[in-house]
Amino acid sequence: MSGDDKTLAPPTVTIAGGALLEERASRKFSIDDERDPREGFILRYAGELRAFENRCPHWQVDLDLGMGEPYLDDLQKIFCRNHAAIFDPLTGVCESGPCLGRSIRRYPIRIEGEDLIVTLEAMNEGDDLV
Ligand code: FES
Repeated sequence: MSGDDKTLAPPTVTIAGGALLEERASRKFSIDDERDPREGFILRYAGELRAFENRCPHWQVDLDLGMGEPYLDDLQKIFCRNHAAIFDPLTGVCESGPCLGRSIRRYPIRIEGEDLIVTLEAMNEGDDLV
């Protein structure tokens, strides 16, 4: 192995005030990847903070069709406006719809003061960061 091996840290997004998100509230953010610009969203549910990609796992489109928030508090679920599919707000697993059993991409997060730092690296099954 050469001494030139370098591991690049995955990019992050800082969401100012994100750690202060209220219960059952969500907020979208931009992922400025020039090869694949897209959105994510943070969500607090049952006291837990989560960060997800705003993209369905079975059809690469925004869950909210660009019309608001992917989390619907009336349902207490993440919701796909394309197919009325619903996803668990803590795990991102599809509970009903064409991608049943598959998960929205979830990102690791960490809290720094009032801010939330989202690492743009997909979590593995069973990971439980924050
Ligand atoms: S786009 Fe996949 S459930 Fe709607």
